[in-house]
Amino acid sequence: MTALHSDILRLIILGGGGHAKVLHALLQACGHPVVGICDPQLSAEGARLWRGIPVLGGDEALECLDPQVYGLINGVGQMPRQNTRRRLYELWREKGFSFPPLVHPFAWISEDTHLSDGVQVMAGAVLQSECVIGMNTIVNTRASVDHDCRIGAHVHIAPGVTLCGGINVAEHAYIGAGATVIQGISIGSDAIVGAGVTCVRNVKPGSVLLGTAMRLKLTD
Ligand SMILES: CC(C)(COP(=O)(O)OP(=O)(O)OC[C@H]1O[C@@H](n2cnc3c(N)ncnc32)[C@H](O)[C@@H]1OP(=O)(O)O)[C@@H](O)C(=O)NCCC(=O)NCCS
Repeated sequence: MTALHSDILRLIILGGGGHAKVLHALLQACGHPVVGICDPQLSAEGARLWRGIPVLGGDEALECLDPQVYGLINGVGQMPRQNTRRRLYELWREKGFSFPPLVHPFAWISEDTHLSDGVQVMAGAVLQSECVIGMNTIVNTRASVDHDCRIGAHVHIAPGVTLCGGINVAEHAYIGAGATVIQGISIGSDAIVGAGVTCVRNVKPGSVLLGTAMRLKLTD
C-alpha cells in the first residue's frame, strides 16, 4: 500500500528537519515526486534547494496555491509536550488542504485497518487487523500495533513501540521509543509514556509514565 490520492495531488513538504528527511526518503521509496518544501528557516537563510527540492518559501508560500492541486506532507516531527505539528496540520486543513496518508513500502498494514488523513507509517511498522489510526498520527519506524487498537488524532507512536491488542490511545498522547503496552490498556489524551516503559495499567490524561531510570556506575 502506498500513498492514496497523492497519486493525483502535487506534494509539498512542510518543515525541513529530521522527520522531513525520513518522509522524503519514504516518498522516494514509493516513487512519489515532491514539487517543493516550505520552511521558514530555510527561506530566511536564502536556501533555494533542500535535498534537491525547490524551497518555495515559508508557510505563507501556500496561500496562493490551490488545495485541489497540491497535497501537504507534515514534515514537523512530534516531540513530547510540543504542539507545532498539530497546529500546522489544523491550520492548513482549515484552509482546505489535505495531507494524504503515507505508508512506507516496507510497512505492513492489514486490509481492514483504517488510516485517517495525514497518518504517516514508517519503514518496518506493522499494523494488524481492525485498527483505526486517527488523523495526523505518526506510527514510526519498526513500531508494532496489534489487532483492534484505536489510536486517536495527533498521536506519536515512536520507533520500536509495541502496542498489544485492543489498546485505546487518546488524542495527542505520546508513546516513547521502545515502550511496550499490554493488551486492553487505555492511554489518556496528552499522556506521555516514557521511552522503554512497560505499561500494564491505564494511564490518566496528561500524566507522564516513567520506567526504571538508568543509573551510572561510578568507577575509579
Ligand atoms: C518521558 C520523557 C518525556 C521525560 O522527559 P523530561 O521531562 O525532559 O525528563 P528528564 O529527562 O528531565 O528526566 C527526569 C527524570 O526522569 C528520568 N527519566 C526520563 N525519562 C525516563 C524514562 N523513559 N524511563 C525512566 N526514567 C526516565 C530521568 O532519568 C530523570 O531522573 P533523575 O531525576 O533521577 O535523574 C522522556 O525522557 C522520554 O522518554 N521521551 C521519549 C523520547 C522518544 O521516544 N523519542 C523518540 C523520537 S522519534
